[in-house]
Amino acid sequence: RCGGFFTYRTKDEAEAGLAPVAVKSGGPYSIDQKAFIDPLVAQVQEGAIRATIESMSAYHTRYYASETGVDAARWLQGRWQELAAKIPGASTQLVAHKGWKQPSVVLTIPGVEKPDEIVVLGGHLDSIVQGGGSARSPGADDNASGIAVLTEAVRVLGASGLRPRRTIQFMGYSAEEVGLRGSQDIAKQASSEGRKVIAVIQYDMTNFNGSGERIFLLSDFVDKDLTAFLGMLIDAYAGVPWSTTQCGYACSDHASWTRKGFPAAAAFEASFNGMNRALHTGRDTLATTGGTAQHSVAFAKLAVAFAVEIAKPSAL
Ligand code: BES
Ligand code: ZN
Repeated sequence: RCGGFFTYRTKDEAEAGLAPVAVKSGGPYSIDQKAFIDPLVAQVQEGAIRATIESMSAYHTRYYASETGVDAARWLQGRWQELAAKIPGASTQLVAHKGWKQPSVVLTIPGVEKPDEIVVLGGHLDSIVQGGGSARSPGADDNASGIAVLTEAVRVLGASGLRPRRTIQFMGYSAEEVGLRGSQDIAKQASSEGRKVIAVIQYDMTNFNGSGERIFLLSDFVDKDLTAFLGMLIDAYAGVPWSTTQCGYACSDHASWTRKGFPAAAAFEASFNGMNRALHTGRDTLATTGGTAQHSVAFAKLAVAFAVEIAKPSAL
């Protein structure tokens, strides 16, 4: 499809990257918040998801090295900041990267009881067209859709008044399309600082209904236990069936976390063969997914359930 590669900054890092990694379990994970979550997932709105896809894909390109790619990241921080303003203690940050100008965007809802245990929900905010460069690259499905799912989960969680026991972080990664660079920087820093990231979910392409209404969980470069737990969350809360599929290579940012030993999983729009073939072209617009965000709704329900069941409401 395109590269299918990690980009490392030095040869030493590249060689170290070939070594096998042991993933530390982030569990046990449990489902016991039905009474809290059922009314929340009912509040997920297709129109809200669609609005974010429209805003993000309106940028000429979100290419990591472009000025409009920086503008899009800043717009996202502004939108997340509006939502964070309604959540006690929540804040947003731009994460600068050395070597390119597009920042990543992070929204943090601090945990009340176990702030050092972190639940991450992420997706890449950049876009690309075949070959890179400055051509029109709407990236509506790849990956304004994933960013829109995260944004809708923040909105719904904010409206719920949730004060989580553990810290929840939403991440819009820069520079995924050129070798998972933004997420690698972030996972590397989390690892070197010894941060306790206990679960990561990746959303990359959620809006193309190429294999029916189900959610597909990636089965490679992920944590098996966390992926099994996602299946249980989908059964309990998302209202659609699920299956597994594989990329066959480190196809998105979950692989950056896995590579650093953190438990990560990924939810995808279709079977790998049924995915949106307009990706990385000027035709990856909302129109290609029927002009609606309907397929993404179940993914946003899963995001809400994931955040609440892993972070848990605080008893304090
Ligand atoms: N969204 C795509 C690819 C993808 C396919 C993700 C299936 C999840 C499931 C992603 O943005 C992408 O294009 N990745 C690159 C690899 C990356 C390491 C440069 C690719 O697929 O070639
Ligand atoms: Zn993508």
